[in-house]
Amino acid sequence: MSNILITGGAGFIGKRLALSLRSAGHNVTVFDNLHAQVHPDSKKTTSELNVAGVIFIFGDIRDIDAVSEAIVDANSEIIVHLAAETGTGQSYDLPAHYCDVNVTGTARLIEALRAAGREGVEVRRVVLAGSRAVYGEGACRDRDGREVTAVPRLSADLAAGDFAPKDANGRPLDPVPSRASNTAPAPASVYASTKLMQEYLLRQGLEQSGMEIAILRLQNVYGAGQSLHNPYTGVLSIFAQQLLDGKPLNIYEDGEIVRDFVYVSDVVAAFHRLCEIAEVPDETLDIGSGTGVTILEVARTMIAALGLEGGRITITGQFRPGDIRYAVADISAAKTALGWAPQVNLSDGIRALVEWARKSA
Ligand SMILES: NC(=O)c1ccc[n+]([C@@H]2O[C@H](COP(=O)([O-])OP(=O)(O)OC[C@H]3O[C@@H](n4cnc5c(N)ncnc54)[C@H](O)[C@@H]3O)[C@@H](O)[C@H]2O)c1
Repeated sequence: MSNILITGGAGFIGKRLALSLRSAGHNVTVFDNLHAQVHPDSKKTTSELNVAGVIFIFGDIRDIDAVSEAIVDANSEIIVHLAAETGTGQSYDLPAHYCDVNVTGTARLIEALRAAGREGVEVRRVVLAGSRAVYGEGACRDRDGREVTAVPRLSADLAAGDFAPKDANGRPLDPVPSRASNTAPAPASVYASTKLMQEYLLRQGLEQSGMEIAILRLQNVYGAGQSLHNPYTGVLSIFAQQLLDGKPLNIYEDGEIVRDFVYVSDVVAAFHRLCEIAEVPDETLDIGSGTGVTILEVARTMIAALGLEGGRITITGQFRPGDIRYAVADISAAKTALGWAPQVNLSDGIRALVEWARKSA
């Protein structure tokens, strides 16, 4: 059994991971600042953690002394780093704050790890929740079948209703699932840039520490428990809340944006495995369902799951700069390295999400 500290462990993924690791017998400590945008009812969250035997420490990831003290007090062997600002759209409005929490926060975590090391605490593994956002448009094939990385889509093309990813010469490309081993990072938002920096910082800053670094790049995580009140949270929670409020769904572009939605318990299972595996894989791993679905399709599935009539969808043709056309993971490396595979299909997952949202709305 290990002593595991989870930064951001009160959040959507973190709380479920903390409970999962605790129920497997690990000693789990959560370090979190209970960000008001994410936690409308933080008391409920902390008492749920406490009842399960998870130690909760209130603190900010940017506070080196507090983080280092938490690492020492928990005698941590493994750190799972989830604390972050997570809104892609919001990151455009608050670039300095996103860099502060995500980038400086990770740099401070590195310093806190060094300080804890000086106190004799031997952390052996650091696991990061990375994001597929680092790929930008991601892997594509050109018309000759060669795999290439697309450049960011141009606002002028999007305004003209031309939504296809393109190469640097403006030639249209066919998107394919991305994987860390051969898709070059090309972040298209401030959030994505900060997530890529987190990866670089941990690999570079802990290089000579002897600590193992493991990185999972997550696709769109969804499920029961994702904040219904955070306007910057996952699209499926936002859709569920809008439909329950009797509002129509406005869908961007032509409705054909593709996403890979992975249920939260499947993501938790991958992190749980990384905490227990004897040696972490050398490579960064992609975590998703491995299957793409259009936003239009997923909206229709949710309307049906809620037992609502059709006619609630408007395809607006509007676009958001930095939005990605096609985001699907190639999960073959994660399957091999972790002996892991997603278990929850999209219709079961959406059913679970809407049942929970109905009770919580
Ligand atoms: N949910 C997804 O679809 C998704 C996809 C890709 C990557 N990720 C990554 O996974 C991680 C967890 O995401 P989540 O969906 O659980 O988000 P979340 O917002 O539910 O959880 C993040 C937690 O971090 C805490 N936090 C925020 N700022 C902090 C600070 N300054 N100091 C200490 N704690 C702070 C929040 O209170 C919250 O409990 C994040 O790093 C995110 O970038 C999530």
